[in-house]
Formats: sequence, structure tokens, C-alpha cells
Amino acid sequence: MTAVSPPSPPSLEHPVIIQPALAGAARSGEIVAELRGIRKTYYKPDGSVMVEALRGVDIAIPRGQYVAIMGASGSGKSTLMNILGCLDRPTTGDYLLDGQNVATMSDEDLSAFRGRKIGFVFQAFNLIPELTIEENVEVPLFYQGIKLRERRQRACETLNMVGLGNRLGHRPSELSGGQQQRVAIARALVTRPVVLMADEPTGNLDSATGEAILRVIEDLHQGGMTIVMVTHDDRIATRCERVIRLKDGVVESDRLVEKTAGGGA
Ligand SMILES: Nc1ncnc2c1ncn2[C@@H]1O[C@H](COP(=O)(O)OP(=O)(O)OP(=O)(O)O)[C@@H](O)[C@H]1O
Ligand SMILES: [Mg+2]
Repeated sequence: MTAVSPPSPPSLEHPVIIQPALAGAARSGEIVAELRGIRKTYYKPDGSVMVEALRGVDIAIPRGQYVAIMGASGSGKSTLMNILGCLDRPTTGDYLLDGQNVATMSDEDLSAFRGRKIGFVFQAFNLIPELTIEENVEVPLFYQGIKLRERRQRACETLNMVGLGNRLGHRPSELSGGQQQRVAIARALVTRPVVLMADEPTGNLDSATGEAILRVIEDLHQGGMTIVMVTHDDRIATRCERVIRLKDGVVESDRLVEKTAGGGA
């Protein structure tokens, strides 16, 4: 055992007071995503219950909020993200995203709705190696049937926004990990989604590069984007506005992070 405390980059530290969240009333703004009584049960082929991954989750996310989802392995974070991101449906309960009830949509409508409303960033960047960065960013617009000229223009604008306007024409393998993650962020944003979902977006990056990506995400938050991010890192979570902890498929705690003077605002 050692008495030396773990090193922490000074720029990441700021004093925080954690206060209980006023359910759904973090800001006076409108609720953009609302889960009501969400349960997700995985069944075995014989119909018997295998796992109750979510056991009654109620969460309301105001527009523009920056939310961290935390919890031990197996607590239900990915299951929750899949439902929030419209990749999967709850077994029971309602999910209202941007005013529409996802639970009652057909598969086809759900997938089109997801394409318009949600941007995803994953730990692995999931870029297509054969395509240039602008072609990668265009992919979601292609699926929306948007013509090449507009696709290209929007892709280039979004790449400019994440600081990669000078790397057009390059393929992902020619970029650093942090730059590749920025391409993935541009791809998530190019559809102008209402929610950006990020599953450990800095998990594959060294701490300096991860910090740069967090800054990009924080800039998006400053610009008004609603962001839901899974993280295992307390220091990252306390930079968000709200921390939701899952335990065994239920919300164990749901708190607002208050920045004190010196932490800004
Ligand atoms: N397709 C599936 N079929 C059966 N059980 C599943 C399935 N997906 C997840 N589970 C179970 O549901 C529970 C929640 O899983 P989930 O992947 O949401 O956890 P997690 O919090 O994301 O964990 P990790 O931090 O390890 O990614 C776990 O017990 C898991 O084994
Ligand atoms: Mg997971």
C-alpha cells in the first residue's frame, strides 16, 4: 500500500457540491427525453426470464442538459443507452423522445426517427477505413436520402466545427486517435440530432487526447446540445451537470452537480 495519492491533472479539478436533483426540473426548459416505468427483461428461448436488466426506470432529461450515466458492470447502462438511443425497445414502459412515444412506433419508423434525432459516439470510433473523413461523416445523410452536394457541404462544415477542416481527403488511418474520435463526433452531429449519446467516448484515448475530446463535448454542451454520456470516471462525471447511477437495473441516485465559484458560472 502507498500513501501517495493518485495524480490528477490540475486542470481537471474543480470544487463541486453535489445536490439532489429535482426530478426533471434541473432547468426550467422543456423535457426532451422522458422514460416512464421502463423495464427491460431478457428471456430465454423457452420463455422463462433470464435477466431483468432494467426494473422500473423513470428519468426526464431537459433540453440542453449534460448527463453522466454511471454504475458497475452489469448494472444496465448499455441497456438504458440502447433504449434512450432507440436501438432497442423497453419490455414495458413509455419513452417519449422529442414529444413522440417511441414505444408505439413500427421498426421502420423507429429507425428513421433514430436517424433524425440521435447522434452516437462510441468508445471504438467505428469509422469506415476505405472512406475519406468527409465521406464517413456523410454516411448518416446518405441514409436520409440527402443529395451529394448538400451532404458534402454539411459534412465539411461539421468537420470544420470539430477542428478537422484541414484534414479533408484523408482516410481515418492517417489520423490520430483523437482526430478519429472527432470525425466520429462530426458524424454524430451532421444530422443535427436532438440528443448526443456517448458511450465512454474517451475510453480508448490517452488522457491528454481524452481531455481534448471532452472539451469538444463541453463546447457542444455550451452550444445547447443535450448530451448523455456513459463513463466510469468520477472526474469526468463531475464535469457533467447531472450524474445518474444505476444499480441492478434501477436508479440508485440521481443528482445535479453544482459548480461552485471558480468552477465557472
Ligand atoms: N442480449 C442480452 N441477453 C441477455 N441478457 C443481457 C443481454 N444484454 C444484457 N444482458 C444482461 O443485462 C444486464 C445489464 O447489462 P448491460 O449491458 O446493460 O450492463 P452495463 O451496465 O452496460 O455493463 P458494462 O459496464 O459491463 O458495459 C446484465 O446482467 C447483462 O448480462
Ligand atoms: Mg455496457
